[in-house]
Amino acid sequence: MHKKFIAPSLLSANFAELRHDIEWLNNSSADWYHIDIMDGLFVDNISFGIPVIKSIKKYARKPLDIHLMILEPERYIKSFKDAGADFLSIHYETCIHLHNTILEIRSFGMKTGVVLNPHTPVSLLKDIITDIDLLVLMSVNPGFGGKSFIKNTWKKLRDAYCLVREKNTATLISIDGGVDLQNAYGLFKSGADVLVVGTAIFSTSDNMKVIKTMK
Ligand code: DX5
Ligand code: ZN
Repeated sequence: MHKKFIAPSLLSANFAELRHDIEWLNNSSADWYHIDIMDGLFVDNISFGIPVIKSIKKYARKPLDIHLMILEPERYIKSFKDAGADFLSIHYETCIHLHNTILEIRSFGMKTGVVLNPHTPVSLLKDIITDIDLLVLMSVNPGFGGKSFIKNTWKKLRDAYCLVREKNTATLISIDGGVDLQNAYGLFKSGADVLVVGTAIFSTSDNMKVIKTMK
């Protein structure tokens, strides 16, 4: 089995104690920090922006996996690079020139990610999958943490797994939304490489153990 990654979503962290959460995550078996950026337009919610990422970067000792839920993400690629992004993921639904935007992300030395909403089929990526480092399947509609896992994601995970194998690329498959201790094992077993986890980690006092158990 390939290495499996857990990416805790800081959307569920305690924003008044963000440094504390970053530091215990540094000492946990989590692999990346998943950071959700929302503009109130593409999704209903507004989360936080570039100055907050810069502050996180000062203390984080693991890669920053930035998930942009914003319109016109191509306008901000350099800003996210400067803020410390390691992975920069953009939504398929927000990009008119997706391939061009991906190449630009790569030209700044970041890993490229493409995120699909629950209604967007994996097959739409078949001609550019080899340029994508991280394929993120939304398993909830984006905007908020704490929502229930959409069951059709299991089918999309199979589609993604087949596409990645068929094209023989090193693209990692990530699942974002509603991941918990019940479905984590099955998702990893079905071909997911990365699980983004918010509520299931931050809503318990035994959060280190949840991460360890999932891995
Ligand atoms: C939702 C975000 C997710 C979210 C996951 O729009 O992209 O990363 O924080 O949180 P949970 O695990 O609570 O579904
Ligand atoms: Zn996310």
